Amino acid sequence: MNIQWFPGHMLETKNQLKNSIARVDALLEVVDARLPLSSSNPFVDRIATGKNRMKVLNKADIADPEATQAWLDYFNRDLRLPAAAICGTSLQDASQALETLVSQVDRNQARKAKVMVVGIPNTGKSTILNTLAGRKVAKTGNVPAITRHQQRTSLKGNIDIYDTPGILWPVIEPLQRALALAVSGAISDTAIDYHEIAHFAAQLLLERYPACLAERYPFLDPLPKNPQALIETVGKARGCLKKGGYVDSQKASQLIIRDLRSGRLGRVSFETPKDINVNHDTDQ
Ligand code: GTP
Repeated sequence: MNIQWFPGHMLETKNQLKNSIARVDALLEVVDARLPLSSSNPFVDRIATGKNRMKVLNKADIADPEATQAWLDYFNRDLRLPAAAICGTSLQDASQALETLVSQVDRNQARKAKVMVVGIPNTGKSTILNTLAGRKVAKTGNVPAITRHQQRTSLKGNIDIYDTPGILWPVIEPLQRALALAVSGAISDTAIDYHEIAHFAAQLLLERYPACLAERYPFLDPLPKNPQALIETVGKARGCLKKGGYVDSQKASQLIIRDLRSGRLGRVSFETPKDINVNHDTDQ
């Protein structure tokens, strides 16, 4: 299966970013802390050359803290790319990340620092902007591609911040990466098959987070041996049934994905630096 989702506004945004990058001082790249590498857009690496930059691992409140620490070490120490793990609704977290980034900008205080917030859909860019602004200046939501246009907001400290629509790339490969992105909520529901992504999620949970499964679904005793059995057992116990009493796999899959996305299944990360064995620079 191929997962592809590259609506027209993403191409438009990509071209706008290419044109406006020269006018900003710094990039605040927002990735999802649960999959910081898979949610990093290779296009950002390309336009960021020579720019002050910070990678913000957002949604750290629902990511596995151990994996997040490993990712911070990987970016800060191994790649020498400034990175911070934050919760987008925490003013302290968001302003600390912004201050660290702006402190790299060579300017006198009379000149505004221009910071552009970039990243893939649904990573929390607008949420962070609202937190920094102290009011709702950008629309947010738990579906991808809420933001459709670039928007400028002036912040304290003589900083202008530009929120931009989340962008992906035309063909997401390898499949593991596409599945992880789909589970995280970065890809529109219209482009995914819930059963397939729930299969991927169930495998991950069984292998790496059995305790989270046991806590959220106490009726799983013993834990099912494979992803399909997990989806079916959860579906049966939670009343996701079709006519004749058969389990509705789509409904059961959606329920598991919703539990995972919302953090109700606990703090789960979809990848760690130990998983790096694929070439992620697949931008086209
Ligand atoms: P696009 O418009 O697709 O580019 O999205 P965006 O990157 O602007 O994301 P947005 O701010 O709309 O947030 C997406 C979803 O993630 C919303 O449901 C937010 O409430 C949620 N969210 C944002 N930041 C955090 C965070 O730090 N922790 C958790 N748990 N949820 C967050």
